[in-house]
Amino acid sequence: MDFLRSLHQKAIAASKTIVLPEGNEPRTLKAAEIITREKLAKVILVGIETDIKKAAEKEKADISGIQIVEPLKSEFYKDFCDTFFELRKAKGVTPEQAAETMKNEVYFATMMVHKGLADGLVSGAIHSTGDTIRPALQIIKTKPGIKSVSSSFVMLVPDCKMGSNGMFVFADCAVNIDPTASELAEIAISSAETAKVLCDMEPKVAMLSFSTYGSAKHQYVDKVTEAVKIIKASAPDLKVDGDIQADAAIVASVGKTKCPESKIAGEANVLVFPDLQSGNIGYKLVQRLAKAEAVGPFLQGIAKPVNDLSRGCSVEDIVNVVAITAVQATSE
Ligand code: ACO
Repeated sequence: MDFLRSLHQKAIAASKTIVLPEGNEPRTLKAAEIITREKLAKVILVGIETDIKKAAEKEKADISGIQIVEPLKSEFYKDFCDTFFELRKAKGVTPEQAAETMKNEVYFATMMVHKGLADGLVSGAIHSTGDTIRPALQIIKTKPGIKSVSSSFVMLVPDCKMGSNGMFVFADCAVNIDPTASELAEIAISSAETAKVLCDMEPKVAMLSFSTYGSAKHQYVDKVTEAVKIIKASAPDLKVDGDIQADAAIVASVGKTKCPESKIAGEANVLVFPDLQSGNIGYKLVQRLAKAEAVGPFLQGIAKPVNDLSRGCSVEDIVNVVAITAVQATSE
């Protein structure tokens, strides 16, 4: 069964509630109709009710039966302001600033997830990555034992036997700009978990570099080898190796030549890039040149699921990311 079909089935079984703060955005409205019709999740739209209804009418999106929450009219607004003030007062936030912040739909929806009124959040069709995930970093924060929120993509490469029959997890391609060795180690551990939960894969993690087993000497390579040491100490059962070049990681013949003793060379299905430059460029090249489907990015390491859309997303992308968010919510 293909990845997306299996994911949709898991989402239907999970029966979760996902809040969409970009309530009057046209693609979001179309997606909300499909998600509701296909029972992938219960949707809550956040925004000004009259604006949302007007936009839905214009888009011919049937949102009947979908709950709409308007921050300023909500019975929860005051409680959300108080909670935000308590969470952020040490950072200099005043009660007035908290009240202003809670008018923002993304902050309000994030607080709904924090308070358990929704199981997850999907946004980013009109907001930047920073504006989508900053509220989550401030309010929801990381899972116990994790310091760093990161992201991953599921890459579905057509006509490809590498990875898990063309399926890979790529990380971090969207959040951490220049992770330290210990942040890189957390990215790898979280990505392996994503591979298990979303893709039913046995993760084989390659810590990518321009060097394989010290073939080049540089501080950038040292960061990767240091990360591998940290992973081996904190997750000894995880199949991981690096520093390793991308070809040695995914092509069996190259892996055999460059690092025959490696347990993952030539078979890696989770590719961890050393920084955001390489990760972001890498996933976009595979998407465009290999015509791969890039599903994501998914945030990982966060205490409750929040996911960011690309501003170029399609209705179908929103539907899929909502399904994934619902599935992630089952592993909380
Ligand atoms: N994990 C956990 N907490 C974090 C993380 C992280 N990775 N990053 C920031 N935080 C926390 C900070 O500790 C801080 O908490 P505090 O206020 O309680 O002390 C809070 O979040 C805000 O931190 P800032 O450093 O002010 O973070 P900022 O809001 O400037 O940026 C962001 C965070 C948005 C994730 C930043 O790292 C960023 O811009 N990353 C790149 C995003 C991007 O442009 N990606 C490429 C496009 S996406 C695509 O192509 C699919």
